[in-house]
Amino acid sequence: MNVQTQLAPRHKNGLLLRNPVVIASGTFGYGMDNTKIAEVCRLGAITCKGTTLRPRSGNEQPRTLETASGMLNAIGLQNPGIHTVIEEYTPIWATWQTPVIVNIAGETLEEFVELATLLEGVEGVAGIEVNVSCPNIIAGGAVFGANEQSVADVTTSVRRATLLPLIVKLSPNSGDARPTALAAASSGADAVSLINTITGMGINIHKRRPVLANITGGLSGPAVKPIALRMVYEVARELRSAHPLVPIIGIGGVSNANDALEFLMAGASAIQIGTINFTNPKAGIEIVEGVEEFLLQEGVEDIAEIIGAAL
Ligand SMILES: Cc1cc2nc3c(=O)[nH]c(=O)nc-3n(C[C@H](O)[C@H](O)[C@H](O)COP(=O)(O)O)c2cc1C
Repeated sequence: MNVQTQLAPRHKNGLLLRNPVVIASGTFGYGMDNTKIAEVCRLGAITCKGTTLRPRSGNEQPRTLETASGMLNAIGLQNPGIHTVIEEYTPIWATWQTPVIVNIAGETLEEFVELATLLEGVEGVAGIEVNVSCPNIIAGGAVFGANEQSVADVTTSVRRATLLPLIVKLSPNSGDARPTALAAASSGADAVSLINTITGMGINIHKRRPVLANITGGLSGPAVKPIALRMVYEVARELRSAHPLVPIIGIGGVSNANDALEFLMAGASAIQIGTINFTNPKAGIEIVEGVEEFLLQEGVEDIAEIIGAAL
């Protein structure tokens, strides 16, 4: 049985994963926790924490809140900055069999370009995931992912700066990811990933104030799964005719093998798991094994047979 999946068919070297289970950005740090090393080698790929040009300490506390079937977070991209990542973590990643995708976040187009340029040719970096859900300070703080023109601009600029496989991670907050998916695919993205978190909030009724210091946060976990699945399905139908060689990575509330299979059948070539890593650190391995077991039971010889089966 073959569970390998290709995430960059348009790229000269491709980005072939041993299986379709990838760790989502921000839920696994940089993979340096010793307890996670055993898991790393069984997964398809790891996406590291969103990384910026300079170190960031993130937002004020409280910055997370548990919700019904999910969580809100407003971490504010706490990270050590790209230079530390390149110096300290990439030499370790270079020793791993499992590819590491670096998630980058910029406040300007130039920052995205600089981040991609710095990562070029660095051993241990298998690809770049561009997080367009960050505020563009020059455009008054609207997120890059909010409209197709700014997604096209970021994608085109990063594409020019890097030969690495390029994934553009889309925001769900406009309600329809199809326009930005098409913009990314037409501007040179090798793949698109979706969804990032959905903006939400909570109120502390005793303090009569928003719970999160940032007021709003991003909702993730099982609560977002049906929305994420619908968006992946819509994008898959759109890209199938317009950009058949641009795969989709499905993200949002995947907690078990059945969830993963739903995303694959909705047209995702791989899935990312985020929030579940906090409550079940073995989820990744369980999902890999559960998907394999399903394929075996159903007599499916190649995972490609089920990708997009529900379209
Ligand atoms: C605590 C936390 C931190 C996150 N940090 C990032 C980040 O730095 N960059 C990014 O692109 N997405 C980030 N995300 C979004 C996840 O990668 C993912 O898109 C989202 O949580 C939906 O998947 P899930 O429901 O499986 O968690 C973060 C999510 C959480 C919960």
